[in-house]
Amino acid sequence: MADVYDTTYGQADYFGSEASPLLARYADWIPAEARVLDIGAGQGRNSLPLARRGCRVTALEPSGVGRAAIKAQAAEAGLDLDIVGENFMSYEPRGVFDVILCFGLVQILRYQECASLVTRLHQWLRSGGTLFLTAWHVGDPSFARLTREWERLGIRSFRSPDGSQYRLFLEDGEILKLFFRWQTIHHCEGLGPEHRHGDGPPERHGEIEVVLTRP
Ligand SMILES: C[S@@+](CC[C@H](N)C(=O)[O-])C[C@H]1O[C@@H](n2cnc3c(N)ncnc32)[C@H](O)[C@@H]1O
Repeated sequence: MADVYDTTYGQADYFGSEASPLLARYADWIPAEARVLDIGAGQGRNSLPLARRGCRVTALEPSGVGRAAIKAQAAEAGLDLDIVGENFMSYEPRGVFDVILCFGLVQILRYQECASLVTRLHQWLRSGGTLFLTAWHVGDPSFARLTREWERLGIRSFRSPDGSQYRLFLEDGEILKLFFRWQTIHHCEGLGPEHRHGDGPPERHGEIEVVLTRP
C-alpha cells in the first residue's frame, strides 16, 4: 500500500538537501565509526552525511519513494547504508546503537505510538549513547486550529478529518520528563524560523530540539 510520504517525496529534497542544523552543530559528538539508527529517515538528508563520515548507518523509512531516494544518493556517492523499509513499531534491531536520530517523527505519531517510541529509544540506545530528537510543542501555530478542525484523540493528540494524518504536541519541558535522568547536551524550545517544504506555503513551528545522552 502506498505510504502518505510517497507523494511528498515525489519532490526532491522535500525537507532540504542539507543535514538538519541541529545535527550539523553537534556532528563532532558522533564518532566516525558510530553505529547510527535514523528513525523516519525520509530522503536521507541526515543519514547520508553520517555515512559519508564513516558511520554505520541504518536508515529506517516506511516510504518506498523515500528509500529509493536514499538508495540512489548512496549508490552515486559509493556509500554503504542499511536501508530498512519498516515502521519502528515492527522493527527489531540486532543490537544497540551509539546514536539515534529522530527528526520530525514525534509530531506525526499517535500518542500511544509516541509512548512506544520512547520505550524503544530507552532500549535501542547504548548507555552513554546520544539521541537527537525534534518534536513540536503546544506553542506551534497549528495547535489552536487543530483543536477546532481535527478530531481530538488525546489531550494534545489529533487526527485529520480524512483519518490519514496525526499530530502530537508536547507540553513545555515535557520532553525532558520523558527522558528523565538522561544528560542534556542541548535543549531548546521556541518558535522556529520561517521555511518552506518543497513548493508548499511558508511555515513556522513550535520546535523542540534535544540532544541527550543515555545514562
Ligand atoms: C517529517 S518526516 C522527516 C524525515 C527526516 N527525518 C528529515 O528530517 O528529513 C517524518 C518521516 O517519518 C517517517 N515515519 C512515519 N511514521 C513512521 C514510523 N512509524 N516508523 C518509522 N518512520 C516513520 C515518514 O515516512 C517520514 O519520512
